[in-house]
Amino acid sequence: MQKLVIDGEKRLSGEIEVQGAKNSALPLLAASLLCKGETVLIGCPKLSDVYASCRILGCLGCECKAQGNTIIIKAEAPCGCCVPDELMREMRSSIVFLGAVLGRTGECKLSFPGGCQLGPRPIDLHLSALRQMGAVITERHGMLRCTCPGGLKGAELVLSFPSVGATENIILAAALATGQTVIRNAAREPEIVDLANFLNLCGAEISGAGSDTIIIEGVRELNGCEYKVMPDRIVVSTLMAAAAITGGEVSLKGARAEDVGAVIPVFEQMGCGIYSYSDRLFVTRSKKLRSVETVRTMPYPGFPTDAQPMTMAALSLANGTSIVIENIFENRFRHVDELARMGADIKTSGRAAVIDGVSRLYGAKVHAPDLRGGAALVVAALAAEGRTELFDVKYIDRGYEEIEKQLSQLGASIIRVSE
Ligand code: EPZ
Repeated sequence: MQKLVIDGEKRLSGEIEVQGAKNSALPLLAASLLCKGETVLIGCPKLSDVYASCRILGCLGCECKAQGNTIIIKAEAPCGCCVPDELMREMRSSIVFLGAVLGRTGECKLSFPGGCQLGPRPIDLHLSALRQMGAVITERHGMLRCTCPGGLKGAELVLSFPSVGATENIILAAALATGQTVIRNAAREPEIVDLANFLNLCGAEISGAGSDTIIIEGVRELNGCEYKVMPDRIVVSTLMAAAAITGGEVSLKGARAEDVGAVIPVFEQMGCGIYSYSDRLFVTRSKKLRSVETVRTMPYPGFPTDAQPMTMAALSLANGTSIVIENIFENRFRHVDELARMGADIKTSGRAAVIDGVSRLYGAKVHAPDLRGGAALVVAALAAEGRTELFDVKYIDRGYEEIEKQLSQLGASIIRVSE
């Protein structure tokens, strides 16, 4: 068991290179399964979810070697089509291996994915789309058995919700399918664009990524390439919240303003100055932290649900009352009770949270409930009076590469202690 020990009231300052995006690296690793030859992914974050994906690739008969932030994959002739249950359960994104394995081998056996408990996380949109592409999928006792006699075929698909994972799964299944696949009401997240850019470099024919309509012309084969993973826009949002709550000023090297287009105005309303340069964002907060009338989470390009917990932590010290509406997940307020232990005044009802800013937060013993809830507690602890001990750090390690090193580099007093 490990914990983070954070002594608060330290103003963050300095420059940091933004880590590669977890939610891009994971589908890119799955996509490498589709490619003959060698794929080199540069700028992969060193995260437990990334290593779990490497283990899945190994189970599928691929060579997967991690050298720092570079991962080299050889998928010349994958021989497996079964993903072990314990690896499927490690994370939500394991489900995108379904589209890749079906696309490459024509059959797949796997169990339902795991991931942070943010409410029910069904995969009905994934399965319905793959069935329309010719996959025969049977579900028994939590196991999925999938075959596609005659191979996957392109289809006209309409998503009832712009699901990120479902969009990624369809792209992975369609890249080598016969014919054209059209995805309407597709997710528009930057990670979808990153996936399409990678696959096109490998020889795929994908257009429209980043819009709500994506067209994939199936090709006969894909060949691996070298690709740099995009910067992590949720880590950027987290560091923005850390600068805001501590009254600091930080330079986020590699951050792309367009990835956080809906987050910037919220932090500007909170009193931050955010300045965009060609290769970085500069974030400073010199005025008093102010409340924001309402923050609504929405699919991209709306305010990202993943940035909601950390933004709420910053709002808990803002002057005034703010409202957060969580429209994406049913149960994404699990960090509220832990923030309350630090003195935050937050009331929730269904998908709404009302945050009455307080003048001070206090260090406490708290537990990370999930990945971004844990990040929210780190943000709060940075500004709290006294010492915070944060347990269940494993959740945070799923999305932040050595978070204590990143924040220490910006002047925080934070160490990792093994219990
Ligand atoms: C991805 O999850 C991200 N994970 C999540 O980040 C992120 O919060 C989410 O997209 C939304 O942006 C990865 O990329 C690995 P969805 P995903 O499918 O694909 C419902 C983090 O903290 N839905 O867009 O699972 C679902 O229940 C994680 O980094 C269905 O109903 O998200 C949810 O309410 C957390 N049926 C909504 O859609 C389906 O078949 C959004 O889910 C699929 C989804």
